[in-house]
Amino acid sequence: MVPLGKYVAATLVLGAVASDSFNVLQHLGGNGQWFPGPDITGISSDVPAGCKVDLFASFSRHGSRYPDTGAYKEWTDLYYRIQAAGNLTITDSKLAFLSSWKPVLTDPDQQIAQLSTTGYKELYDMGATFRLRYSHLYDYNTNLTLWANYYKSSPRVRDSARLFARGFLGPNATDLGTIYALNSSDSRSFMNSLATSDLCPTYSDSGGSPYKDTWDSHYLPPIQNRLNGHIHGSFNLTQTDVSIIPYLCGFETQITGGTSPFCSVFTEAEILQYEYAQDLRYWYGNGLGTDVEKYMMLPVLDGLVQRFVDGPNKTYVDEEGEVFKPPRVMVSFTNDGQVNQLIAALGVFDGEEQLPAAMIPENRLFRASNLVRMRGTVGFERLSCSSSSSGSAGYGNGSRDGVYIRIVLNDVVYPVAGCKSGPGSSCPLAEYRKIVKGKLAEAGNFGKLCNVTDSSIPSNRSNVTFFTNPDLPFAIIVKP
Ligand SMILES: *[C@@H]1O[C@H](CO)[C@@H](O)[C@H](O)[C@H]1NC(C)=O
Ligand SMILES: *[C@@H]1O[C@H](CO)[C@@H](O)[C@H](O)[C@H]1NC(C)=O
Ligand SMILES: *[C@@H]1O[C@H](CO)[C@@H](O)[C@H](O)[C@H]1NC(C)=O
Ligand SMILES: *[C@@H]1O[C@H](CO)[C@@H](O)[C@H](O)[C@H]1NC(C)=O
Ligand SMILES: *[C@@H]1O[C@H](CO)[C@@H](O)[C@H](O)[C@H]1NC(C)=O
Ligand SMILES: *[C@@H]1O[C@H](CO)[C@@H](O)[C@H](O)[C@H]1NC(C)=O
Ligand SMILES: *[C@@H]1O[C@H](CO)[C@@H](O)[C@H](O)[C@H]1NC(C)=O
Ligand SMILES: *[C@@H]1O[C@H](CO)[C@@H](O)[C@H](O)[C@H]1NC(C)=O
Ligand SMILES: *[C@@H]1O[C@H](CO)[C@@H](O)[C@H](O)[C@H]1NC(C)=O
Repeated sequence: MVPLGKYVAATLVLGAVASDSFNVLQHLGGNGQWFPGPDITGISSDVPAGCKVDLFASFSRHGSRYPDTGAYKEWTDLYYRIQAAGNLTITDSKLAFLSSWKPVLTDPDQQIAQLSTTGYKELYDMGATFRLRYSHLYDYNTNLTLWANYYKSSPRVRDSARLFARGFLGPNATDLGTIYALNSSDSRSFMNSLATSDLCPTYSDSGGSPYKDTWDSHYLPPIQNRLNGHIHGSFNLTQTDVSIIPYLCGFETQITGGTSPFCSVFTEAEILQYEYAQDLRYWYGNGLGTDVEKYMMLPVLDGLVQRFVDGPNKTYVDEEGEVFKPPRVMVSFTNDGQVNQLIAALGVFDGEEQLPAAMIPENRLFRASNLVRMRGTVGFERLSCSSSSSGSAGYGNGSRDGVYIRIVLNDVVYPVAGCKSGPGSSCPLAEYRKIVKGKLAEAGNFGKLCNVTDSSIPSNRSNVTFFTNPDLPFAIIVKP
């Protein structure tokens, strides 16, 4: 039903990332489709001279999707209220579409909560892009192990891993790929899954409250008044309606492949206010503005760092004597909450001030739009550097032989706060390990942090073994 022309138009909107043009789709917090960058750190993502990436890992949110049930109800509620209002006189041409607007889902019963077509495209592209970028870490026509959260509300996380695998592995993906979907509700998976908060009773995502509520009550009423001033008849936009306009912009655009009319409703300044509301949602929901939630993915990070310390050639033997050599491209998929918790654990944002509820700090590094958008990805590169192997060019004085880690958020290198002495502002791996161990010590015992009282949960254990042991009883095998 969507003409090719419309699709191309949407791609062009995304493509127009030139620094002087404002692209609303890149300021929608968690509700925008994927785009690379922006390059706000000024660090080249080229592999530094004298170094090679010898191990890569990533953790991604699922790709673009249809709305969940709750969000879709908000759309249909708006639709029915507009319909019930009868004739409206709308004096702003950017709002004129409202009278004839209909939610864009063609088959909501089947579509709700699933990946959308733009999601398919993002994941195939991602798979092929990673294959091209890390081709030296994968041998032609060989098996690849991947990981996914077994998200029980929808197959979208597993499906993201499947579509990625098809883009990465090509026509033989079904034979070559094996996805371990970790059941985070299984008590044996305590702090050893891709959704560790599921077994943590003290975990509570406040959605950014009370900070986001304060900000909402500050920025939304003026927009509501402005818009309602243009609508005459027996209908007014509620504050909730107004708060979902950018959400509708992001979702309708990626679902239809054409730019949603909702994208023109907010002014640029208003979109930036919405973007900040999204920052507050993540920062105070399960990010660095929280006390329990921010630690949830720390064990996973610790397990990954251990894997990086072990190096690309290490093989692991489980209790039954089975040998496993993890791939050198280690890709995992989960949901935005977990990606945001991982981002909180990284150390990249440790130098940031807590976000204020009453004003936008213009120079903040933490912007949800650049982090947890659909298919938002935290990448880790292990850099093996040797000044002798490629001449000494680019190194200046002092040897930088050794192993480093570099964190790449949606294709942009972000330095670790207080640890960027390595090539290309990378962090010496041994130093990064210390930083992560320090955070683990700060978090303390996870059984205690989570107030685990269920005796079937191994609450003393907080080390991650899923990267190195494919035989875990709570892993469900999914094929691409
Ligand atoms: C809406 O406007 C049309 C044309 O102006 C009119 O025929 C119709 O009766 C109006 N409907 C309502 C519900 O006011
Ligand atoms: C798929 O695997 C088969 C069996 O190993 C091989 O003959 C074929 O070339 C592979 N296809 C591609 C596209 O590499
Ligand atoms: C590759 O994976 C398949 C399962 O999809 C398995 O049967 C086969 O033994 C694996 N090959 C190797 C070399 O591990
Ligand atoms: C995940 O684990 C829970 C708790 O043990 C169980 O009820 C559920 O059936 C499991 N899910 C799958 C897909 O195996
Ligand atoms: C819309 O809001 C205005 C201003 O608050 C109010 O006067 C009007 O009665 C409202 N209309 C409807 C249909 O709720
Ligand atoms: C891993 O093994 C390959 C092939 O033997 C070798 O070239 C490489 O240097 C090894 N990497 C490390 C970090 O030991
Ligand atoms: C821990 O859980 C128990 C049992 O659910 C409850 O009684 C207790 O208040 C909780 N403690 C804390 C600190 O949350
Ligand atoms: C494990 O936790 C239980 C209670 O949760 C405690 O009694 C026990 O001493 C702990 N064991 C270890 C080895 O820490
Ligand atoms: C994981 O934790 C358990 C229990 O604390 C411990 O026995 C085991 O050695 C740890 N494994 C690793 C790889 O650190």
